[in-house]
Amino acid sequence: MIVEKQVPLQAHNSFGIVAKAHHLARIRSEADLAQLRATPEWEVLTRDAMPFVLGGGSNLVITGDVKPLVLKVEIMGRRLVEETGKGWLIEAGAGENWHAFVQWTLQQGWPGLENLALIPGTVGASPVQNIGAYGVELQDRFHSLDAIDLRSGEAFTLDAAQCGFGYRDSVFKHASADMRDFGLAGRALITRVRFWLPKAWKPVLGYADLERKMAETGNTAPDAQTLFDWVCAIRRAKLPDPAVIGNAGSFFKNPTVTPEQCADIIAREPKVVHYPMPDGTVKLAAGWLIDACGWKGRGVGNAGVYEKQALVLVNRGGATGGEVVTLARAIQTSVYERFGIRLEPEPVVI
Ligand code: EPU
Repeated sequence: MIVEKQVPLQAHNSFGIVAKAHHLARIRSEADLAQLRATPEWEVLTRDAMPFVLGGGSNLVITGDVKPLVLKVEIMGRRLVEETGKGWLIEAGAGENWHAFVQWTLQQGWPGLENLALIPGTVGASPVQNIGAYGVELQDRFHSLDAIDLRSGEAFTLDAAQCGFGYRDSVFKHASADMRDFGLAGRALITRVRFWLPKAWKPVLGYADLERKMAETGNTAPDAQTLFDWVCAIRRAKLPDPAVIGNAGSFFKNPTVTPEQCADIIAREPKVVHYPMPDGTVKLAAGWLIDACGWKGRGVGNAGVYEKQALVLVNRGGATGGEVVTLARAIQTSVYERFGIRLEPEPVVI
């Protein structure tokens, strides 16, 4: 097991920020991690800080060289675990590219993940964020995952309930405050994820962008491959390709407010984009709020707000993590001053 030193991270974070990992180990199997844990180097490198688990780096802002040991998860493999009369149970290694995995499931004739096409990142990172798009969240198709506790080295399996999924949220984003809280932030390395794709498939078409596609094409009953193609086209038109313009997708979560707060905002800002949620709260479109504050196309240094979607911050070339963070704070301040709403960032800042 080799620990590489001074490893450039620019290619390993979708913002394309230039930084180095002081120490980085590539984990290609469970055995790799066990081997690494048994070395004297592990003791030394994890004495002051837990290792930092890196997947595709698509939800990350790096603000300087990374001192904690970086574990780059490269566990590959995808397979059908089981087929029953009701559906398919599929497993993928945490290091698999998410979009390629979605494409592969469709090629095999297993629909269900098409609305989640083109989301950057790896399979292993998908439950951390509970990735979601166009009316489907990962938790709707998730079965279970395998992970390793970085403190003890023990392997464990979690089902959906144990993952504590919420909107762009899971147990992997929370630190353990006490014994009752099963927070796993910084503690677990996800190795494999399993998905349950029911044979009773129905297209999920509730989103305005998809309704527009139906109207445009006259196809009101698209198959999974068509829906996949539509989602790819919508995303390509609206969101920057990280291979061309560095970014981490939506930078902030869409905030939820009470109906009273929403009514108050509508009284002042009648055009505010809002969606009533099943639990009685109201979700506001953060992109609209940022756009309304005039941020589209503006920036700080080389970090900017994407011209076509104000919720996406971009690296215009050579941006530092500090510039991205400064821009994010300035946006938070102006949205708070105008609407009284605190926007919560999505990416991890390290
Ligand atoms: N809007 C504006 N101006 C903007 C941006 C958006 O007015 O600059 C308005 C749009 O016109 C629309 C509304 O805000 O009425 C919502 O915009 P959009 O449909 O683009 O979706 P979103 O709420 O901004 C969310 C997810 C995306 C996901 C899309 C589709 C979050 C934080 N983001 O974006 O997820 O792809 O819905 O489901 O929930 C991601 O998390 O990285 C991501 C890209």
